[in-house]
Amino acid sequence: MKGLILSGGKGTRLYPLTYSKAKQLIPVANKPVLFRVIESIRDAGITDIGIVVGQTAPEIMEAVGRGGRWGVQITYIPQPEPKGLAHAVQISEEFLGDDRFVMFLGDNVIQGGISPLIAEFAGSAWNSQIVLTRIAHPEQYGVAELNSDGSIKRLIEKPKEPPSDLALVGIYMFDHHVLQAVKEIKPSWRDEYEITDAIQWLVDHQFAVHPYIHRGWWIDTGRPDDMLEANDLVLEEIDYRVDGYVDSQSQVDRRVTVERGAEIINSVVRGPSIIGENTRIVNSYIGPFTSIYHHVLVENSEIEHSIVLEHTQIQDIQGRIQDSLIGRHAVISRSPTKPTSHKLALGDYSQVGIL
Ligand code: G1P
Repeated sequence: MKGLILSGGKGTRLYPLTYSKAKQLIPVANKPVLFRVIESIRDAGITDIGIVVGQTAPEIMEAVGRGGRWGVQITYIPQPEPKGLAHAVQISEEFLGDDRFVMFLGDNVIQGGISPLIAEFAGSAWNSQIVLTRIAHPEQYGVAELNSDGSIKRLIEKPKEPPSDLALVGIYMFDHHVLQAVKEIKPSWRDEYEITDAIQWLVDHQFAVHPYIHRGWWIDTGRPDDMLEANDLVLEEIDYRVDGYVDSQSQVDRRVTVERGAEIINSVVRGPSIIGENTRIVNSYIGPFTSIYHHVLVENSEIEHSIVLEHTQIQDIQGRIQDSLIGRHAVISRSPTKPTSHKLALGDYSQVGIL
């Protein structure tokens, strides 16, 4: 089997972070979501992986490389325009050949990996397997309606009135028949070739599409709140280890990872949380569900339930920073000069909540 990861798109809902960074490279618990996707495909025994890339191609290629780090081989497939998931399959025809494959959206995070799912599909006669999960707002996703015997009745992309609460998770398994399906369908109202329509085509043409209902958590990390939620969930499940330095004045919980070269000085760190490589936490409080990436300085400040990206400095802040997503090379500090005021230099689409 092969793997196909879709890693195009502009990530507009995550502006301003995604002005300067591909959304799939934003870390959750200090590891880019795309790396988590590669690992779960690799852990299912698949080593031949194609990544469909769009305008952020150079950045993705630089971060991922040829895959040697994970023991996999990566092929890049450029998608000149973001014309939908089914279009991404179409342009990957040469890479896919006649092989069965798993397609994984590069911004999806799922609990428990996909090894059992892949094993089941690989040994089956199904033409496709889709993954469904029950959620509160299915209208934002592809939605499945099932027959009473559990088979698929129909699939609809972002229906205004969803016929069920079963959303399509961004993980799909196919054989080569999907290559015919993606050529037969027409673009949707949002002018995209929808994978949901291609799967419906398979169902309509009597191909066997098996619906698997996933019961753990699943997050599509499209918006800032989703990133924080994915961070909460993944932080609960990582292996905790202290590879950095913790001084005798500090208290660090059992469920905290301190990465190589990090220093915790006279501070309290409550888990689950992670402190990245070469980051310094000085006279500060880091609360639960916080991921601080590498080369960050937090000094005389308090922060919890947040993600802080690399090379950022947070110093001398009164009041706790909470529920925040802070980008790279940001500087948050007290301003010593008069008049006493908030002095901001924020990128387009930034959001700041002030007391
Ligand atoms: C895409 C699919 C949708 C699926 C979702 C999962 O939506 O079209 O059917 O439920 O991924 O993340 P999009 O991210 O294009 O809005």
